[in-house]
Amino acid sequence: MKFFIDTANLAQIKEANDLGILDGVTTNPSLMAKEGIKGDAAVMQHYIDICNIVDGDVSAEVISTDYAGMIAEGEKLAALHENIVVKIPMIKDGVKAIKYLTSKGIKTNCTLVFGPGQAILAAKAGATYISPFVGRLDDISYDGMELIAQIAQIFAVQGYQTQILAASIRNPMHIIKSAQMGAHVITSPLASILALLKHPLTDSGLAQFLADHAKSNS
Ligand code: E4P
Repeated sequence: MKFFIDTANLAQIKEANDLGILDGVTTNPSLMAKEGIKGDAAVMQHYIDICNIVDGDVSAEVISTDYAGMIAEGEKLAALHENIVVKIPMIKDGVKAIKYLTSKGIKTNCTLVFGPGQAILAAKAGATYISPFVGRLDDISYDGMELIAQIAQIFAVQGYQTQILAASIRNPMHIIKSAQMGAHVITSPLASILALLKHPLTDSGLAQFLADHAKSNS
């Protein structure tokens, strides 16, 4: 399973990349706004900056919601860097845009996926990735992980090549369960990735080893 980081914060992207386990980055307009990135030129430069840090797919989201606008934006984003993946919302024109961009050899990530029917449509259109939003489903008392399992089963039965990118990850258990259920990728905030490191027995065991080494070498 690939690990993407879900942020537009360059320091956090560098920290995750330095761990040596990072395979890519996802952003969205809210994450860009959180970093104070405003204006077309600044947004484009920020995507290039991210691509210069991470050697992997970097999702950049379109703002348009009509077919022509999404195509124009998608082609402009894709021309920025070979690692750019154009993020397209799961709407009617979005499905058409995914089909078109795929036919031009441009990678796509279908975002805001909340149901298996949407996942099937995006796969049929040839999306490189689909992003089911696990945490946002949990927030409204649906089972986000169940959606990952359902999509994984459908894609396996149908032989779809589209990769399941579990998004809206809120905690380390979401990452572990995504791996169990067959997600190809997770995109997560840095905190949830780092939380995977932690176990109290690792910390106490290491402290004991170091203390015993210090005693026997004093
Ligand atoms: C990633 O591609 C999504 O935009 C992101 O994971 C959404 O996460 P959120 O629900 O925490 O905003």
